Amino acid sequence: MSKYYLTTPIYYVNAQPHIGHVYTTVAADALARWFRLQGREVFFLTGTDEHGSKIENAAREAGISPGEMADRMSKNFRDLWVAMEIKPDRFIRTTEPEHQRVVQRVFLELSARGDIYPGVYEGYYCFACEAFLTPSQGSLCPDCGRETEKISEPTYFFRLSRYQEPIRAYFQAHPEMIQPERAREEVSNLLNQPLPDVSCTRRCAWGIPLPAEMAADPELTIYVWFDALLNYLSGVDYGQEDGRFKKTWPPDIQLLGKDIIRFHYIIWPALLLALGLPLPEKLFAHGWWLSGGEKMSKSRGNVVEPMEFARTYGVDALRYFLLAEVPFGLDGDFNEAAFRKRYNSDLANDLGNLVHRFAHLIRTRHQGRVPEAGDGGRLAEKVLAALPQLDERMAAVDFFGFLETARTVVTAANHYLDETAPWRPENNSGPVLYNLAETARLLSLCLEPVMPRTSGLIRSRLGLEKLPADSNGLRWGLTPAGAAVGEGAPLFPRLK
Ligand code: MSP
Repeated sequence: MSKYYLTTPIYYVNAQPHIGHVYTTVAADALARWFRLQGREVFFLTGTDEHGSKIENAAREAGISPGEMADRMSKNFRDLWVAMEIKPDRFIRTTEPEHQRVVQRVFLELSARGDIYPGVYEGYYCFACEAFLTPSQGSLCPDCGRETEKISEPTYFFRLSRYQEPIRAYFQAHPEMIQPERAREEVSNLLNQPLPDVSCTRRCAWGIPLPAEMAADPELTIYVWFDALLNYLSGVDYGQEDGRFKKTWPPDIQLLGKDIIRFHYIIWPALLLALGLPLPEKLFAHGWWLSGGEKMSKSRGNVVEPMEFARTYGVDALRYFLLAEVPFGLDGDFNEAAFRKRYNSDLANDLGNLVHRFAHLIRTRHQGRVPEAGDGGRLAEKVLAALPQLDERMAAVDFFGFLETARTVVTAANHYLDETAPWRPENNSGPVLYNLAETARLLSLCLEPVMPRTSGLIRSRLGLEKLPADSNGLRWGLTPAGAAVGEGAPLFPRLK
């Protein structure tokens, strides 16, 4: 059984989780569930990024300590993942002692190799992005566009310049590591300018102290991005003899938002090369959700609160909308009108209605028992042709294409039902209804990664709880004749 290690960025704990955080984590959860269904040994890591001045400042404003802030917010993220049916294998916090030990160990190792050396940083720092600016960038933050602050402090530098050529050569040999394709140009622009060495400590009390062997200045702590990136290693027990590192490394895919490309495609590979570790197979930079056409922000008051949507429309509808509405690498606009439109067309009219119609016919024409199978015919052909395409789309991290393919199956099944008219007494309804029940069973398996609750409801409606819910179930004809079909409420009541 081959392993599949995937990660999300770890989230800052200075503010409440919002729809952007849900997006990356739902996407990762869908991949994790799909590859688990395929029998891979999945390890899905997410967590919270808890150090640095951003959190220190937010805690000060809230009148609590940074530790309390981190505890409180980190719990909010964990609770939200439970509510969203997101099931990571590990939720890491950068304040955990073992993570801190790994970070310190890596620092010592890199300084022993001459990749970390002392110096003085003079220049601009963006507190919102926790980013040092290079001299050619001036004083405006290249990531968020804000005016930054000039700082001057003793620091340690990471010898990024040493890895410029090795990274370029690596990407040339492995272009598929950078996903989607459009991110490649940005990465190559970054690599076409000289990469200066980067500061990797801060004068910030809320951070991981330098290892005792290096701590000439007790006020220096490790720069939060170095601390954070190393979670991908500590999260799989890097440095522990009997931990999972050996069988898990390297990551098969790491998801991130397009705003943190520089950290993930430049600094992260450089750190791994410096440590002599294999690089991830793929890094995928997804687009951003805007709200009302604008960037979400507290000051604009347009931040989308995920639980509000989940409460009104259901968790599955929210998960579905996020993955179906825009291709994963592009930006999208999160607005209620678009949400309701997609809900009504794809979920209420197509999927929900399909299940409702044939289940009702099985109840009225076959005493609520799945009839005997006949010839699978063109519907079986359609469904079986879609299965490899679904797998291909998921392997390409193309949720949009995956759900488009799933919809073609739903549409085909609805047409089949219309054309075969199993409600007419003169028609032989048994084999037709069997084929529809079997299609719904296969859909319930394939849609589980995106809509786990709906998938469970379809299976229980068809009395199929005991059938294999893994790749062994991805064959035609497993629904047993005689299974009891329940009544059940509509899966997705139509919105007025
Ligand atoms: N803590 C760093 C990541 C360290 S990873 C070693 C960080 N945290 S964050 O909380 O600001 O953002 C985390 C992720 O959420 C990023 O991938 C970011 O792109 C994503 N999103 C934040 N807002 C978003 C939207 N509005 N839309 C989509 N994703 C967004 O950066």
